[in-house]
Amino acid sequence: MKKIIITLDGYSSCGKSTLARQLANELNYVFIDSGAMYRAITLYFLRQHVNWKHTREIHKALGEITLEFQYNERTNQSDMFLNDENVEALIRDMLVSEHVSEVSALKEVREFGVAQQQKMGESKGIVMDGRDIGTTVFPDAELKIFVTADPAIRVQRRFKELFAKNPSITIEEVKNNLEMRDYIDSNREFSPLRKADDAIELDNSNMTREEQLGIALSWAKERML
Ligand code: DC
Repeated sequence: MKKIIITLDGYSSCGKSTLARQLANELNYVFIDSGAMYRAITLYFLRQHVNWKHTREIHKALGEITLEFQYNERTNQSDMFLNDENVEALIRDMLVSEHVSEVSALKEVREFGVAQQQKMGESKGIVMDGRDIGTTVFPDAELKIFVTADPAIRVQRRFKELFAKNPSITIEEVKNNLEMRDYIDSNREFSPLRKADDAIELDNSNMTREEQLGIALSWAKERML
């Protein structure tokens, strides 16, 4: 079977990462959560008080950043490392979520992210999820999936995830954050979120994890022949 590139794009909290991780496990492929990279960059910008209105500051900050995924034996997943620090938990914070769409819309940040992501896919055998993976990062990918889910279901899923870590969070906050990110992600100038013409849409609103995996796996296997 030939090695392929699988891309999963879609709005925030559609279950892209869950599906991408499942697919990578089944196929023994590398899973890359590209959103984690933009989140780590955002964390660095916030910590260093980078004024991202100034291009020079953005360039300087990006020059100081090293991003790496490292396998975690305990969780059986890859964690995001920012300059050798494990920031996997920190980047899921609401503070990062509030700024990540703004930071990831910056031209310099996109160029930085896309170049690294393209390198990771050089030898194929990769499943990457994000917003512009099928359109900008890997326009020639063999399988492109555009994941969607009902907005109310997405809010519930995200709320459950965040509430487990922070019981003071409200549904309203989660809903507002998702709406804001969807808006910025789809309307930005550089690599906005949109379905690639040759992507297949997968609406998982009423699917179990097993069902969505079954469908995606069959699409992948057809393309690996
Ligand atoms: O997938 P996520 O919610 O962790 O992504 C966080 C943010 O990063 C998202 O709001 C938009 C941005 N992002 C992006 O612009 N391009 C990608 N390929 C992945 C994420």
